[in-house]
Amino acid sequence: MASKTAIFRGILSQKPRFGARSMSSLFQNIEPAPKDPILGVTEAFLADPSPDKVNVGVGAYRDDNGKPVVLECVRKAERRVAGNLNMEYLPMGGSIKMVEETLNLAYGENSDFIKEKRIAAVQALSGTGACRLFADFQKRFLPDSQIYIPVPTWSNHHNIWRDAHVPQRTFHYYHPESKGLDFASLMDDVKNAPNGSFFLLHACAHNPTGVDPTEEQWREISYQFKVKNHFPFFDMAYQGFASGDPERDAKAIRIFLEDGHLIGCAQSYAKNMGLYGQRVGCLSVLCEDEKQAVAVKSQLQQIARPMYSNPPIHGALIVSIILSDPDLKNMWLKEVKVMADRIIGMRSALKENLEKLGSPLSWEHITNQIGMFCYSGMTPEQVDRLTKEFHIYMTRNGRISMAGVTTGNVGYLANAIHEVTKCA
Ligand SMILES: Cc1ncc(COP(=O)(O)O)c(C=O)c1O
Repeated sequence: MASKTAIFRGILSQKPRFGARSMSSLFQNIEPAPKDPILGVTEAFLADPSPDKVNVGVGAYRDDNGKPVVLECVRKAERRVAGNLNMEYLPMGGSIKMVEETLNLAYGENSDFIKEKRIAAVQALSGTGACRLFADFQKRFLPDSQIYIPVPTWSNHHNIWRDAHVPQRTFHYYHPESKGLDFASLMDDVKNAPNGSFFLLHACAHNPTGVDPTEEQWREISYQFKVKNHFPFFDMAYQGFASGDPERDAKAIRIFLEDGHLIGCAQSYAKNMGLYGQRVGCLSVLCEDEKQAVAVKSQLQQIARPMYSNPPIHGALIVSIILSDPDLKNMWLKEVKVMADRIIGMRSALKENLEKLGSPLSWEHITNQIGMFCYSGMTPEQVDRLTKEFHIYMTRNGRISMAGVTTGNVGYLANAIHEVTKCA
């Protein structure tokens, strides 16, 4: 009988079923993925040793010293969470309280749709996760549909619907000459799309252009959507960041609701509560009745289950504590306004500085645009010069994150922009 050691020796000396060479060939043809255009900017910024460097690439709020901000209402809510939190799983659809409060923000506190339980809603992994969940839902239950996406848009929208295998079409949005909305072409595209098309709309503070339709234009868009029976999917990543008032920033959605549309909506607390890394958001779909809403919600949960089972608890608790406590909610509303006002102030300062330098160009669009971003109109070559000569980092489409502009760097930034644009 073989001794025990002999048995094990035999096992150890057996050759692995795959030789070292065939294992390595499994992955050898995989090329590195292209850098994400937005996250790549931060990497380059961090690697630059220059003391003058400025990052106006990433859409994350900074205070006037260029430092990340944790809102006071969040700090207070965190203190309440600490000690009282167990680490149990949330339900598949996430925190019911958080979702309820989040629907109030988008649909209005006294919304009949909420009372009638017509909204299928689940907590999502921030705005990105909400968009992705919807895209997967669209593919699974409306497999012949497409999504119309504005030109330009947040670059990740293309990735999200691509990976969900939903065919993409585009519609006109931005007018490069006026640096405003190309309303006529947008309306033509809405009219010419096949009846019942899906459209992705930025509810407010359009990224990257900072160009939003006026209230009147939203009404016309909504009317035409009704005529064509199109479905609007609102991505609302910046509620409160545009005007400083979350109610006002929900206006586009409210117009569509008044007009009797069914809608989809992605909400995020990354920007307006500064909960970027907590990944807390919500996907909602307004259905025709409660029965449909129950079915849709159960299917959304079914899609989430094999991906991540259930969403994280910490950020959701912070949000529900803030929004369900009148004092904390008031504090949040004030803090959102402070952030929005600082950005609006920096828009004026950047424009004034450029004018003082005697720039021959018009910079009206800096203050006409709204939200976190200014779509400056600079060319990729001009942006390259800003980076090489002035250590200023931003995406090559000329998008300036106004949240990264401060009283300390606005003069330097204006001067650099003037230098690279004055001979254009
Ligand atoms: C238009 C738009 N949608 C969605 C998001 C998603 O953000 P998050 O997933 O961090 O909530 C962003 C973030 O930059 C955005 O600009």
